[in-house]
Amino acid sequence: MNHFINLKDISIGDLRKILSDATNRKKNRKNLDNLDIDKDSPLRGKLLIQMFEESSLRTRLSFYLAIKQLGGSTLTLRPDELHLSKGSESIEDTAKILSNFGNAFMLRTDSDKKLEEFSKYLSIPIINGLSPSSHPTQILSDVFTVEEIKKKPISKLNITWIGDSNNVLNSLISASIKFSFKLNIGCPKKYQPNKKILNFIKNNENQIFIYNDAKLAAKGADVIFSDKVISMNDRVNKKRKLNHFKKFKINKKLMSFTKKGCIFLHCLPRGPEVDENVFLSKQSKVWQQAVNRVHVQKSILLYCLGKLG
Ligand code: CP
Ligand code: NVA
Repeated sequence: MNHFINLKDISIGDLRKILSDATNRKKNRKNLDNLDIDKDSPLRGKLLIQMFEESSLRTRLSFYLAIKQLGGSTLTLRPDELHLSKGSESIEDTAKILSNFGNAFMLRTDSDKKLEEFSKYLSIPIINGLSPSSHPTQILSDVFTVEEIKKKPISKLNITWIGDSNNVLNSLISASIKFSFKLNIGCPKKYQPNKKILNFIKNNENQIFIYNDAKLAAKGADVIFSDKVISMNDRVNKKRKLNHFKKFKINKKLMSFTKKGCIFLHCLPRGPEVDENVFLSKQSKVWQQAVNRVHVQKSILLYCLGKLG
């Protein structure tokens, strides 16, 4: 079995295996409905337990469909209904029970430490469904979407991130290192990646460039990525932070500096960082991006349960 906590800890060989399984499975489902099960029903009899300590729409729905399409089932636990959240049961005991009742555990959490603790005591795989420091299922799925739309390896494309240095960007940075693609980051100086992330970049062969000017970061981009300026775990003065990002808005003008055919991606939910006329334009592939979460997470589940060749 394999955990899926951070992209940086997974080999490029395994990441590629996941993407190629997702491509095949997606192709083979052309005429199937949402709840139809893949022909080989590889996770028949398996239970995915999910828990969300933070809000979620896409991750919740896409994991639900993912396990169902593989022939298994899912149960979503509410953290406020567990003894764990009241401090009257340990992570260790909770993890042991989860391991006896389920086959995989997907956790969206407000604490990276909790993910680590769970992984120590679980004898089933844990999947990080977003933590304060990363969002690996989102970004692996986004690599899939980019390659699906652009029809070439992501290593041949210029990727640009315009926005905050948050969990989604951290996973994009890991992906840039793993998949060897060029990544421009455009953000105000005050909101650059933190020291730990900068050291991680420095200590790995990379093609990552940070600009404090949105235009310079967007120049020549094949893909513009963005995300909300205020993340769920952000404890900041929201108005002030939004103000600091004023010059980093994704609008038609900014898109005009990118390469012809550039696409816009956003993990959603969105905020004022992107103009409506970009978000709803032909260049924006955000709905396709969201649906692809199902396809890639199916292959992530198979990877976790040791079912990928
Ligand atoms: N992109 C994403 O993870 O969406 P949710 O927060 O709705 O799950
Ligand atoms: N960075 C955002 C991603 C939401 C899917 C957050 O953490 O709120």
